[in-house]
Amino acid sequence: MLADLSELPVATGFTLNVAGTDLLAVAKAGDSLLSAALRGGVRIPHLCRAGECGSCRCRLVTGQVRLKRDISQHVDHQALRQGYLLACQSEALSDLTLEIPGQSPCAEGAGVKALHGQIRSVTALSHDIRQLVVELDSPLHYRAGQYAQLSVPGHADLASAPRCYSFSSAPSAHGCTQVAFYVRHVPGGLFTEWLFAQDRTGESVELMGPLGNLQVRDDDRPMVCIAGGSGLAPIKAMLEELCGRERAPDLTLFLAARSQRDLYCQAELADLQGRWPGPGRLLVVPVLSSEPESSGWDGLTGYCGEHLSSFCSPADSSFYLCGPPAMIDAILRQLQGEVAAEHVHHDRFLDRSSLPAAAPQTTTQSLTEMTV
Ligand SMILES: Cc1cc2nc3c(=O)[nH]c(=O)nc-3n(C[C@H](O)[C@H](O)[C@H](O)COP(=O)(O)OP(=O)(O)OC[C@H]3O[C@@H](n4cnc5c(N)ncnc54)[C@H](O)[C@@H]3O)c2cc1C
Ligand code: FES
Repeated sequence: MLADLSELPVATGFTLNVAGTDLLAVAKAGDSLLSAALRGGVRIPHLCRAGECGSCRCRLVTGQVRLKRDISQHVDHQALRQGYLLACQSEALSDLTLEIPGQSPCAEGAGVKALHGQIRSVTALSHDIRQLVVELDSPLHYRAGQYAQLSVPGHADLASAPRCYSFSSAPSAHGCTQVAFYVRHVPGGLFTEWLFAQDRTGESVELMGPLGNLQVRDDDRPMVCIAGGSGLAPIKAMLEELCGRERAPDLTLFLAARSQRDLYCQAELADLQGRWPGPGRLLVVPVLSSEPESSGWDGLTGYCGEHLSSFCSPADSSFYLCGPPAMIDAILRQLQGEVAAEHVHHDRFLDRSSLPAAAPQTTTQSLTEMTV
């Protein structure tokens, strides 16, 4: 049973069992489940340790935990009732059993794998976004909308500091040995400075995934997607998936960009528009926040949030938001009270500038040690 009781005392030495395995760890007083698991050699995907990224989502099968903070951003009401939690934000109040992605043979996250791969190509899509294609040693199954954690074994810092990137293409039914990502250059960023510095074709990478819960929900509501920068990656994967279906709803895709030079994948989006199965239609709406007045741009300007109600009825729509945390947070604030939380799905593309400084970001264990 899941509880957020603040009254119950935390005893020492509770046992953390991993469902469907003989893996065990011991949770001491004050430990998060994530810390206890990692100390005991039990791998749980994680990034921020601060309840921000959602990577450490697990399911409590038996036992009681205390939640350290509101986790509704990553675990909705229904999932909470089913026992889903964030391991970095939960403390044991009893012995417990957890379903852990990549460890337990459970439904959610059963397919999380640690794989080796090689960079096959890095291609410029815009002045600051590149498509990164990775060839994997064995096929990976994922859902459109999910992401993977990438690390670089040949790089002193990036070997133990994975970064998250969302798959930019819909998966094939038989699994993918080639996966693609859209990576935006972040000045001063460890991974992206490395990737953009020179041709990285042929470099070895390690990938753990799939992770995340972003996916098309079949709720029969018109869809509104808002993509900022490389946030187009998971959205494009979802559009491709919808294009492969017999029916697709009305979908309005807002592209949040500063200026015309930030727009990319326009030909691919036009192709998807042409192939949209209906009965709905796919509408692509770029909104530029800093386009010079002299440029001749005759599209929308300002911020996406200002134009929502011209294109949809927010209260009746399902929202999918991906990209910079500041953009997502602004839209979430705008939708609050008007759109029920269960109809708003998002992935905030956090980087080190948005994580608490004190939170260690990585485990030092090698990805290859993970049991699949
Ligand atoms: C679920 C998820 C999915 C994502 N998907 C994508 C995607 O598809 N495409 C994409 O481009 N990105 C994506 N991201 C973001 C991505 O994981 C990286 O965070 C991003 O690429 C930056 O990585 P980096 O190593 O280059 O920068 P980092 O090393 O993380 O640095 C980022 C910035 O923070 C600054 N910084 C470093 N340390 C500190 C500090 N202590 N305090 C303050 N500032 C600091 C750096 O100077 C730099 O400007 C995703 C993130 C998440 C959580
Ligand atoms: S939410 Fe737990 S590691 Fe990020």
